[in-house]
Amino acid sequence: MGDTLSVTDNRTGKTYEIAIEDGAIRAMDLRQIRVDDDDYGLKTYDPAFKNTASCKSRITFIDGEKGILRYRGYPIEQLAEKSSYIEVAYLILNGELPTQSQLDIFAHEITHHSIIHEYIKRVIEGFRYDAHPMGMFVSMVGALSTFYPDAKKVHDPQSRQLQTYRLIAKVPTLAAFAYRHTIGMRFNYPDNDLSYAGNFLKMMFCMSNSYTPDPVLEKALDQLFILHADHEQNCSANAMRAVGSSEADPYCSTAAAAAALYGPLHGGANEAVLRMLNEIGSKDNVPSFVKRVKDGEVRLMGFGHRVYKSYDPRAKIIKKTAHEVFSVTGKNPLIDIALELERIALQEDYFVKRKLYPNVDFYSGIIYEAMGFPVSMFPVLFAIPRTSGWIAQWVEMITDSDQKIARPQQLYLGEDERDFVPMRNRGRSISKKLDAKAQSRKGARKK
Ligand code: ACO
Repeated sequence: MGDTLSVTDNRTGKTYEIAIEDGAIRAMDLRQIRVDDDDYGLKTYDPAFKNTASCKSRITFIDGEKGILRYRGYPIEQLAEKSSYIEVAYLILNGELPTQSQLDIFAHEITHHSIIHEYIKRVIEGFRYDAHPMGMFVSMVGALSTFYPDAKKVHDPQSRQLQTYRLIAKVPTLAAFAYRHTIGMRFNYPDNDLSYAGNFLKMMFCMSNSYTPDPVLEKALDQLFILHADHEQNCSANAMRAVGSSEADPYCSTAAAAAALYGPLHGGANEAVLRMLNEIGSKDNVPSFVKRVKDGEVRLMGFGHRVYKSYDPRAKIIKKTAHEVFSVTGKNPLIDIALELERIALQEDYFVKRKLYPNVDFYSGIIYEAMGFPVSMFPVLFAIPRTSGWIAQWVEMITDSDQKIARPQQLYLGEDERDFVPMRNRGRSISKKLDAKAQSRKGARKK
C-alpha cells in the first residue's frame, strides 16, 4: 500500500486512499469525500492550527518533546555560543553560513541602511509621550511602506534583497527612537562603527556624545537577538505569511507580524512576566501565587508553550546569560523570585501533568531590566531580531509555488436563509417568538 491512509466514510461505506507525504496528508485530498453531489466535501476543523502544517519550510526545526531548536540545521546552543546575530540573520535568510566576504558585505549593507528618513521622526513626534513603544514600532514599520514604494515588487528578488537590508537595519533605529520619544530625549543617530547590538545600545542610552557599550552587555544582547531570530510557524510568523500572501509589501507584512507579537500570549509575555514578578514581590509569596495559578485564577506568565513540552532550550541559555549580565549590572533581585517560582512550579503536579516549563520569556525580561530597558520595551526587543526570521518566512512563502493567498475555510453554524425583518416588526417578531415559546412551555407543563 505504501505511504497511504485508507479512510472509510461510514455515512456512505466508501473507502478512499489518501497519500501520505512528509508525514502529512493534503487537506484538499479530503474534499473528494462527499455524501452526495451537493456535498461540498469533507474539511478539517483546526482552530489555532494545532495540527495543521500551513507550509513546507527549511528554515527552523523544533522538536518540542526533546527541547531541540535548530536554524537551518545548526543547534541553537552552538549558534548562541559561537556566532553573531548578523551571521545568524544571514544564515536564516540564505540557508548557509556566510564566508568572510559574504558576511562583510551583508554587515556593510545592514550598517549602511540604518538611518531613517527624517520625516519618520515626525511620525514619532505625533505620538503622545506615554504611547507604548511597541504601538509606535508597529506603526512606524508600517509607515516605512510609504517611503519605499519600490517594495511593492514582491516578485523581484533584487527588490526583496533591498527591503531585507532596510528592514533589518532600520528596526533598531525605529525602536530606539520610539524609546527616546517616551523619555523626551533627543534621538541618537546610528553609529556605523559599532556592532548591531552595540549601536542599538548607544541609540538607546547615550546621553552625551561619547558612549562605549559594555562588551559583556553588548555580547549578551547579541546572544538574546540570536535566540529570538526565528521560531518557525508561531503566531507572528503566521501573520507575516498570511498578510504577505496577499502580496502586500514586506513593511506592511512586518507591521502585521509585529502586531501579532505584541500580544501577552506571544512576544508581550516577557513584559507580563516582569509585571507578574513585581506583583509577587518576594520569594515568600511564591507558594500562594502558585496556588492561585493552580486554582485557575491567573496564568504563570513565561511558562508553557504550544510546541515545547519540555524545557525551552532558549530559556536554558538565557538563564546562564543572566549571571554574566549581573556580573556587570549587579543582580536583579527578581531573579530570586523567578528561580523560586521555577523550583516550586516544576515540583507541582499541575505543571508536570500539563508539561509546563519556563519558555524564552521567563528569564529574558529580568536581563533586559538589569540592562536598563524599561518593561514596555521588552516586546520591541523581541521584534528587532525576529525581523530577520519574519523576512526569511516571507521570502520562503512568496517563492513557494504551492502557496496562494491565505484563505481558511470555516464551519458555518449560523442561521439558515431568512427574510429581512423591517424595523417596525423586529421587537414584535422577537417578543412573538418568545411568547410562542412561553405558551408552548406552559402547555407542556399542563400535560
Ligand atoms: N499558567 C498556568 N496554566 C497554564 C499555562 C500557564 N502559563 N499555560 C498553559 N496552562 C494550562 C492551561 O490552563 C491548560 O490547562 P487545562 O488543560 O486544565 O485547561 C493547559 O495548560 C494547556 O494550555 P493551553 O492554553 O491549551 O496551551 P496552548 O498551547 O494553547 O498555549 C501558551 C500556549 C499561550 C504559550 C500558554 O502556555 C500561555 O498562555 N503561557 C503564558 C504566556 C506565555 O508565556 N507566552 C509566551 C509563549 S513563548 C513566545 O511566544 C515567545
